[in-house]
Amino acid sequence: MSQKDRIKWENKYKENPDLLNERPPSGAVVKYFDKCSGNMALDLACGAGRNTLFLEEKGFYIDAVDISETALKILAGRIKSGRVNIISADLDSFSIDKKYDLIIKCNYLDRELINRAKEALKSGGVMVVESYVEDDENQKRDSNPAFLLNKGELPGFFKRGFEILEYNEFWNESYEKYRMKKAFIAVKKN
Ligand SMILES: C[S@@+](CC[C@H](N)C(=O)[O-])C[C@H]1O[C@@H](n2cnc3c(N)ncnc32)[C@H](O)[C@@H]1O
Repeated sequence: MSQKDRIKWENKYKENPDLLNERPPSGAVVKYFDKCSGNMALDLACGAGRNTLFLEEKGFYIDAVDISETALKILAGRIKSGRVNIISADLDSFSIDKKYDLIIKCNYLDRELINRAKEALKSGGVMVVESYVEDDENQKRDSNPAFLLNKGELPGFFKRGFEILEYNEFWNESYEKYRMKKAFIAVKKN
């Protein structure tokens, strides 16, 4: 899977370089990043790092993980401090061996990874998961269903040991190419 993911994303970034443009952070991250008490963050599938760069500005130390060298190179050029640790890795096999105050996973759906990330969250830590949702009105109809959430699915991952701060389904940001339904959940670990 990993090699396939790497090739797919390198091609995607080559064909759509605008995906690497500077973009605002996720609204859910902006709303909930400060609900944790520490400053150690993990950004899973960080891409060019819109959320990592926001957290850097807010004083966090961030481990930023992605499989695309192209995206990570762009991120490296935008970092302003020594607080961002860029990790080139395949999240299918990446082992999360540290504990974090804040874990972000935006626009990348791997259900098994949500469970691994839950384990890596400190007590009192916050996790934000945001991804695309299956919807009849989605403009991009050829998305792999494995990469789309079902409506109302995300809270099911956090039934025990977490306080759900917010779950929300919404239409994606206007700068995206296709209009797509999304969902986010922000949770706090007991
Ligand atoms: C849609 S982008 C999301 C980027 C960022 N999280 C954001 O919200 O702007 C998805 C990212 O997932 C990364 N990715 C895909 N498969 C991966 C894998 N197996 N391991 C690590 N990263 C992967 C891609 O390289 C890409 O940068």
